[in-house]
Amino acid sequence: MVHGKGVLSSLLWIGFLLFFAPEVFGDNLSCLICHGALKGTYMTRAGLSVSLHVDAKKFAASVHGDLECTFCHLNYIDNPHRDPEEGIPEGIVETGRAIAGKSRIDPVALAACTQCHGEIFEEVKKSVHGANIFVKKESDGAFCLDCHGNAHEIVPAKGIPGGGGEKASPVSYERIVATCGRCHEKKSVSLKYGFSTRIIERYNESFHGKKYHLGGKNLPVCTTCHGSHGIRSHQDPKAMVFGMNKVKLCGQCHKGANEKFVAAITHKPVGRDNPIPYYAEKGLIVLTFCVITGCALHIILEGFASILWVLRTRRRCRDDVRTTGSSLPGQ
Ligand code: HEC
Ligand code: HEC
Ligand code: HEC
Ligand code: HEC
Ligand code: HEC
Ligand code: HEC
Ligand code: HEC
Repeated sequence: MVHGKGVLSSLLWIGFLLFFAPEVFGDNLSCLICHGALKGTYMTRAGLSVSLHVDAKKFAASVHGDLECTFCHLNYIDNPHRDPEEGIPEGIVETGRAIAGKSRIDPVALAACTQCHGEIFEEVKKSVHGANIFVKKESDGAFCLDCHGNAHEIVPAKGIPGGGGEKASPVSYERIVATCGRCHEKKSVSLKYGFSTRIIERYNESFHGKKYHLGGKNLPVCTTCHGSHGIRSHQDPKAMVFGMNKVKLCGQCHKGANEKFVAAITHKPVGRDNPIPYYAEKGLIVLTFCVITGCALHIILEGFASILWVLRTRRRCRDDVRTTGSSLPGQ
């Protein structure tokens, strides 16, 4: 189902072009003639609303600008759209099935990344994110587009020299914290997998994060300490952040970093989400309160007792004087 007013008229116009000038549609024009113009959204069977628009200019400027659409969209070689999984390499079909949960509309296109970036794919597959998808069969872990953004607009991680700006890529130094944060800031994800909530907030409050946000260079960002494609759980002995591996990690920038120094970094927040320090702190407050009120009460009661004692002794003296007065010797 395509929504949007101009869709029918643009399709008629396209049909007219296709009929009268087939030679125009070499390579990507045969796809962009529609997808460059289509502005509506498309409701997938899974109920996701997907834009059918492909920005031809941005695609041309991307790292894949020279590729044909069908290098990735292997199902679309014979336009109109071919039956899925026909004549597609077996490996791609298989990967496509495994990552279906990460795909909105064309799992084969997403799996096609692995044709040309095989080594990176293997690394991602073995990472904590890949294991989430391939072993646990969940769809929460990060796959290519979660970090690299729109498939048609991928630019070099280092930014486009002389244009596009340093921040053009979601995996650039400037944007990577926000990119990882898209998932790692989500409380639902943190609770489901048992990692600290508010990691981004904690990073932002750290010495590193504060300087980073002031525009500092060469500060460690998420990927400096965790890697990018091969990220491991912090409990994995091979992780860069595991135990004494940190001496090497921190030592890159902090000469002479030792066991004590490397313990300085943790994302654990002090809050309800991290119960031990939270309730320890609350307990301490209650304890201090009890001690202070206890002391105050003690002082007050003691004062009160003293006053009573004084009053009583005075009265007793007076009574003694009164009762024993007549019988005092010598009277
Ligand atoms: C005549 C216009 C037209 C042309 C040419 C065209 N498409 Fe489409 N395409 C559409 C429409 C309309 C949809 C919306 C879904 C549908 O109706 O199948 C769509 C959907 C898609 C989708 C979303 C998945 C799906 O099947 O619903 C992809 C991916 C896609 N097209 C890729 C391509 C590629 C690659 C080419 C070139 C080989 C191409 N299209 C050529 C009109 C076109
Ligand atoms: C580098 C691989 C690659 C190339 C080249 C490529 N695409 Fe895609 N395309 C993808 C991926 C991956 C998706 C997202 C698939 C998913 O989430 O299921 C996608 C999604 C789409 C969609 C669905 C809507 C959307 O934006 O998610 C359309 C339509 C589409 N592509 C058309 C094109 C056209 C037209 C071209 C050529 C100008 C093209 N693609 C080139 C990989 C590619
Ligand atoms: C968890 C985030 C993340 C995921 C998932 C991810 N990447 Fe990357 N990718 C990065 C970062 C960050 C960089 C920047 C360079 C670096 O730090 O290694 C990068 C760099 C790259 C590069 C260029 C540099 C190089 O190493 O050659 C390519 C190509 C690439 N990624 C492809 C992919 C493909 C293909 C996938 C999916 C199989 C993928 N990436 C999945 C974060 C990710
Ligand atoms: C047909 C082969 C092919 C396919 C399929 C393909 N790529 Fe690429 N990719 C390339 C080439 C070639 C480059 C440019 C390398 C260069 O300029 O150094 C590139 C560059 C990249 C970069 C740029 C890295 C950087 O920072 O320089 C990323 C990221 C990337 N691809 C991700 C993907 C993703 C994600 C997919 C799947 C949606 C994909 N590629 C599909 C061939 C491909
Ligand atoms: C200076 C290095 C450093 C930086 C920068 C860093 N981390 Fe960590 N990260 C660590 C260390 C060390 C651990 C192990 C912590 C522990 O044992 O308490 C860790 C643990 C984690 C964990 C799992 C344990 C937990 O507390 O949940 C996640 C998830 C994580 N980091 C994500 C991130 C993200 C996202 C970023 C970017 C905002 C980031 N890290 C930036 C060093 C770093
Ligand atoms: C699409 C969402 C998503 C994105 C984007 C993402 N992650 Fe994750 N990450 C997850 C999920 C989900 C897990 C838990 C996987 C599991 O345990 O099955 C995880 C796990 C981790 C762990 C291991 C936590 C542990 O217990 O030790 C680290 C470290 C980590 N991610 C770092 C990063 C970094 C760095 C980035 C950015 C380059 C990033 N992630 C981007 C979703 C994401
Ligand atoms: C990419 C380089 C880099 C890495 C890796 C790195 N740091 Fe830092 N760190 C810095 C910079 C730069 C500063 C700011 C120094 C300043 O202001 O004088 C800093 C500041 C600090 C400070 C504040 C006190 C001080 O010494 O200035 C501590 C503590 C610290 N880092 C701990 C760590 C720990 C622990 C690790 C490893 C888990 C680590 N850092 C990894 C670059 C790094």
